[in-house]
Amino acid sequence: MAQNPSSRTPASRPQILCLAGFMGSGKTTIGTLLARQLAWRFVDLDDRIEEAAGLPIPEIFERLGEPAFRQVEADQLRAALGRASESKESMVLALGGGTYAQAGAPEFLRASGIPVIWLNPSIAVLLARCMTMTGRPLFRDEATFRALYAQRLPSYQQADHRVDSSGQPAQVVAEILRLGIISTGQNETHLVVDKPQP
Ligand code: S3P
Repeated sequence: MAQNPSSRTPASRPQILCLAGFMGSGKTTIGTLLARQLAWRFVDLDDRIEEAAGLPIPEIFERLGEPAFRQVEADQLRAALGRASESKESMVLALGGGTYAQAGAPEFLRASGIPVIWLNPSIAVLLARCMTMTGRPLFRDEATFRALYAQRLPSYQQADHRVDSSGQPAQVVAEILRLGIISTGQNETHLVVDKPQP
């Protein structure tokens, strides 16, 4: 397949941007749109997990349990970053809702020099979105949803950037672009990483 020139950069390392956030924060929707706009590859970690396990996510939880799910998730995170690195292709990676809350995940991504954007709409918006969606084994009721959100907040707060994703996807993408961490040249797009490298 022909390669879009803007998804390959002259840099030795591909540009990778991660989207983190709770269930219903819009990681897939925003990530797809952002990647399309940048002409980068979009990867949804949940899809990679399902492919690797050969099962839909609810069945992974049901048949194998959450610890097994977390193991596949951690493996697939590393695999996705490795593949992007090998292909030298820039990528927007949407994490699963719990990926960034796994022990060591923020440190691992920081050490890899990968900027993380936390998509954070209000909890009312998260709840409203998740109430109408199926396929989320960790969405049971409002009380456990709020408790899990509160438990994960300290992890999400370690992200490099936070964007309110309550609004229209196009506006959220525009806000991400306004963060100034992705600079678009005439023939290329590349990330501006302004944090200390390991
Ligand atoms: C999970 C969120 C889901 C999926 C799995 C576990 C979580 O991803 O990875 O159901 O732990 O919050 P989304 O946030 O894309 O729904």
